[in-house]
Amino acid sequence: MKLPSLTIGPYTAPIPLIQGGMSIRVSTAALAVPVAECGGIGVIGGSGIPVDELKADILKAKQGTKGIIAVNIMFAMRDFHALVMGSIEAGVDMIITGAGFSRDIFKIGREHNVPIVSIVSSAPFAVLAEKFGAAAIIVEAKEAGGHLGTDRPLREIFPEIRRVVTKVPLIAAGGISDGYEMAEIMDQYGADGVQIATRFVMTKECEVSESFKQAFVRAKAEDVTVMRSPVGMPGRAIRNAFIEELQAGAPGLRPEKCEFKCLRKCDYVYCINDRLTRAAGQGDVEHGLIFSGEKVYKFNDIITVKQVFDQFVSQAESVYKEPSAT
Ligand SMILES: Cc1cc2nc3c(=O)[nH]c(=O)nc-3n(C[C@H](O)[C@H](O)[C@H](O)COP(=O)(O)O)c2cc1C
Repeated sequence: MKLPSLTIGPYTAPIPLIQGGMSIRVSTAALAVPVAECGGIGVIGGSGIPVDELKADILKAKQGTKGIIAVNIMFAMRDFHALVMGSIEAGVDMIITGAGFSRDIFKIGREHNVPIVSIVSSAPFAVLAEKFGAAAIIVEAKEAGGHLGTDRPLREIFPEIRRVVTKVPLIAAGGISDGYEMAEIMDQYGADGVQIATRFVMTKECEVSESFKQAFVRAKAEDVTVMRSPVGMPGRAIRNAFIEELQAGAPGLRPEKCEFKCLRKCDYVYCINDRLTRAAGQGDVEHGLIFSGEKVYKFNDIITVKQVFDQFVSQAESVYKEPSAT
């Protein structure tokens, strides 16, 4: 049966699918616009880039579609507030925040009529987010790419959070690799939608280097590992020479001086901004950092955003049943 739409604040996405925000120029307007055009929520990764660059990208996205454009900003960023205000000025439809918790953001959202969506990985934070006024909550589990707030799988943490979130839409993220899983998480676990990221890196529209996409195509299950991020959280990434060096405790990774001053707190073992840029932007997939979800090995081709939507939606709708009231 047909999937339900997803309503967050005043916005309704015809397809209950959010493309996960991926910072430092992985998810830009180039990806977010076709996602929004397909009926999902397109998300620009807003952390780790200059505020003016983010504003210009949001404006470009808003001019490119009448669909829904969100921005993802990590609380861990030193310029969190400036990125939030810049996004609002540029006309972003909603703000998604994770990697830390900010009470102030909800007040800003209310003042400017911009829905705030919180990413959480545990029931206590979900309760807080709903209480402070989140317009929706994303449950991100250990299968996700990038920074991880938990080491527990989606099907274990989602039911705990489903029980405590009663008023706003609840979205599941981490390792949802096809439409059958999308339908399962929605009709059996009661999710109102899903957030998917890794699959969207492997699209023609995603603006990362070709070598970054090919590293995703080549990756096998055993190539995906959890490593240390200077943010102070673990991160999920594809193993390469850089990760081997890091895991061997190589002191030579520490940069001589901090160029970006991007994080509120940085343990400075290596520069995450530089390593992500090297991999995604410059294509150095041996010495850069390749954030990726755990299920990357399930995908082995580069397709268009529309093909991703067609696959997920047709598979999901072939098995989706309305969730039974509990
Ligand atoms: C390359 C990459 C970069 C990411 N960057 C961010 C980010 O900046 N902020 C964030 O909240 N989540 C980030 N994520 C997590 C995704 O937004 C998403 O929630 C998660 O990866 C979903 O799981 P999936 O990749 O298995 O579909 C990133 C994921 C990837 C693969």
